[in-house]
Amino acid sequence: MKNIKVLWSIIILLLVIVLGIGYQFVTGSVLTAKDGRTAIVLTKGERNFVLTEMRGLLSHMQQLVSAAADKDIDRTIKIAKLLTEDSKGETQVSIIAKTPLAFKKLSTNIHTQFGELYADAVTKRDPDHSLKQVSIIMQNCIACHGAYQLVESAK
Ligand code: HEC
Repeated sequence: MKNIKVLWSIIILLLVIVLGIGYQFVTGSVLTAKDGRTAIVLTKGERNFVLTEMRGLLSHMQQLVSAAADKDIDRTIKIAKLLTEDSKGETQVSIIAKTPLAFKKLSTNIHTQFGELYADAVTKRDPDHSLKQVSIIMQNCIACHGAYQLVESAK
C-alpha cells in the first residue's frame, strides 16, 4: 500500500512538472507592454543576441532587394544561402523557452520561407520570383514587430 502511495506521489509530481513545462512552452515569459504589445522578458545578453540577429536580417533583406533589382540571381542565391545557414545557427534554448507559442510559429515560418527562397532561386533562377518571395517573407517581420517587444529582466 505504502509503495503505491509513493508511486502516485511521484506520478503526480511528474505530471505537475510536465504541465509546468508545457505551460511555459505555450505562454513564454511575457508582460503586457505600455503600448499594448506583448513584451518578452529576456536577460540583457539574450536581448542583445536577438537584436543583433535582427539587424543582420534587415541588412540581408536590403541585399536581396538590391540583387533582385540588378537581376543578379547568383547574388540572390548567395544571400539566401546565408539566411538558411543563419537559421541553422546556435539557437539559444533559453530564449526559445521564453517566447510564446505564436512567436515561435512566426519564427519557424520565416525560417521555412528562407529555405524556399534559396531552393527556388537555385531551381527557377528567376529574380522576379525571388523578389516576390522576399516581399512575402517581410510580412513575418511586420506581423511579429506589431505584436511583440523585447524587454530586459531586472536582474
Ligand atoms: C518572430 C518575431 C520576429 C520576426 C519574424 C522578425 N522580428 Fe525583428 N524584432 C522582433 C522583436 C520582438 C524586436 C524588438 C522590438 C522592440 O523591442 O520594440 C525586433 C527588432 C528588430 C529590429 C531592431 C533591432 C535593434 O537593434 O533595435 C530590426 C532592425 C528588425 N527586428 C528587423 C527584422 C527584419 C528585417 C525581419 C524580417 C526579415 C524581422 N525583424 C523579423 C521580432 C521579430
